Amino acid sequence: MTQDQLKQAVARAAIEYIKPKLFSDSIIGVGTGSTANFFIDYLGEIKSQFAGAVASSDASAARLKKLGIDVLDCNSVTELVVYVDGADESNAYLHLIKGGGAALTREKIVRAVSKEFVCIADESKWVDVLGKFPLPVEVIPMARSYVARELVKLGGTPVYREGVVTDNGNVILDVYNLQIIDPVGLETRINQITGVVTNGLFAAQPADVLLLGTKEGVKTLFPR
Ligand code: 5RP
Repeated sequence: MTQDQLKQAVARAAIEYIKPKLFSDSIIGVGTGSTANFFIDYLGEIKSQFAGAVASSDASAARLKKLGIDVLDCNSVTELVVYVDGADESNAYLHLIKGGGAALTREKIVRAVSKEFVCIADESKWVDVLGKFPLPVEVIPMARSYVARELVKLGGTPVYREGVVTDNGNVILDVYNLQIIDPVGLETRINQITGVVTNGLFAAQPADVLLLGTKEGVKTLFPR
């Protein structure tokens, strides 16, 4: 199976996973990226079974709208029944690295508002220790160099993602050479640096379930 077929399989599995949780007034949190895009496309098939969605990016919002799915402002919603999104890495605790698509801040907000986070990923994203994928950090443009110097002090090698401006008007530093043995601690520490909006570690609020696409089929994994 190709990586895209694995992504399609987990997107399809996510539809089956969330269907029993939906009511006609349910609002769903929807993520960003190629795996989330497959999910959005399948979501179109069951759009009569829920009320609408909150999207973690302008791109996902546009894709949802094209399918006739109502997209709501996050501020108008008290709770999302479920949030479905991909990841760049996951460990056995379902601590994640996200933000490869630069949508990490809105993803974290959608995650915070959601009752349950269903992560969907192909098996290439499964790791023992987080950090091989460079950790994205969203930064206020004026603070870019200062934040980069602080990240070096933490042992990382930050690289400016040139040409990328987030949906919030900020920039991204991708931090290489991190071996993240304390994901909750590092998430907190980086978020304390002045000028950081947020970082792509989802450890304080990890995924609740991971649907992992493997050659043997989709595995449903809960945090260790
Ligand atoms: C976007 C993300 C994505 O979930 C992550 O990058 C995975 O993307 P893909 O499904 O394309 O592999 O965090 O900011």
